[in-house]
Amino acid sequence: MSSATPSPAQPILGTQRLIGKKVFVTGASSGIGRSTALIFARCGASVVLAARSKDKLEAAREACVEANKAQGSPGEAQFATAELDMRSRDSIDGLANRLPSWAPLSSFDILVSNAGLVRGREKVGEIDADEIDEVLETNVRGCIHLTQTFVREFRKKNSGHVICLGSIAGKEAYPGGSIYCASKFSIQAFHSSLLKELVDTQCRVTTIAPGMVNTEFSTVRYRGDKAKADAEYKGLQPLSPDDIAEDIIFVASRPPHVQVADVLVFPTNQASPYHSFRGN
Ligand SMILES: NC(=O)c1ccc[n+]([C@@H]2O[C@H](COP(=O)([O-])OP(=O)(O)OC[C@H]3O[C@@H](n4cnc5c(N)ncnc54)[C@H](OP(=O)(O)O)[C@@H]3O)[C@@H](O)[C@H]2O)c1
Repeated sequence: MSSATPSPAQPILGTQRLIGKKVFVTGASSGIGRSTALIFARCGASVVLAARSKDKLEAAREACVEANKAQGSPGEAQFATAELDMRSRDSIDGLANRLPSWAPLSSFDILVSNAGLVRGREKVGEIDADEIDEVLETNVRGCIHLTQTFVREFRKKNSGHVICLGSIAGKEAYPGGSIYCASKFSIQAFHSSLLKELVDTQCRVTTIAPGMVNTEFSTVRYRGDKAKADAEYKGLQPLSPDDIAEDIIFVASRPPHVQVADVLVFPTNQASPYHSFRGN
């Protein structure tokens, strides 16, 4: 049977390179992180799924087991959860003790540094001080501490891939997004430095910067107000978490000498934080 669109059972070009790899995904309880864990599972990689929400993580882990089985269990892959609070230094420093025996810190091939959030659309002067801390501690400080933990191991074995979720908000700032934009500019800069620091190694660094993706992200932004969250996407088709997960799988499955450094992905009807067409 020939078909222009590959069925979910057909691997993305080059994904056989992911068989047997070990992947650590933060923010795996929801959205982009959950989709990413599932597609890695389909490709035969083992995954440790990290976040705070235990029940959602366990459900995502079980979905990974099923997804891997549905493909004939490639890679004899294994799946585990690890509770992780990106705002807590203790939680990050103690991560090694919470990993399964089959996946010590030194064994990972890929870190998908995805956990993150935004709060509100308030302008400078009106922003809740606790929410400033929450966003910066999660998106910047936590990400940096965790990345260091993995990069130490990647350097020792001279291999490993850091894949970070940036954002269009890390390339173009917009009003009502100052703290989130500051966090994503910051993390874009951090990974740009890391890319250069690792140039004499076989380690790779990728930043993926999406535009609008329909996940829990906007509901978290509007503090649980689903109607406001849905209005963000009115009149255009946003990206799905699977769309970004597929980009992550693509960069992770390039040959070892290929480093996709920077990926900017929009829905077709978005061109910047300011430019979108909502005629649909
Ligand atoms: N959706 C978009 O439009 C969009 C666009 C550009 C970039 N991004 C970026 O994509 C990444 C994923 O977002 P998403 O859209 O998939 O949103 P999401 O569905 O809300 O998922 C966010 C994930 O981050 C985790 N997280 C939040 N705070 C955490 C903490 N303190 N410790 C550990 N985990 C934490 C959440 O898990 P727990 O709550 O269970 O801990 C959840 O799994 C974020 O970095 C976001 O900035 C999203």
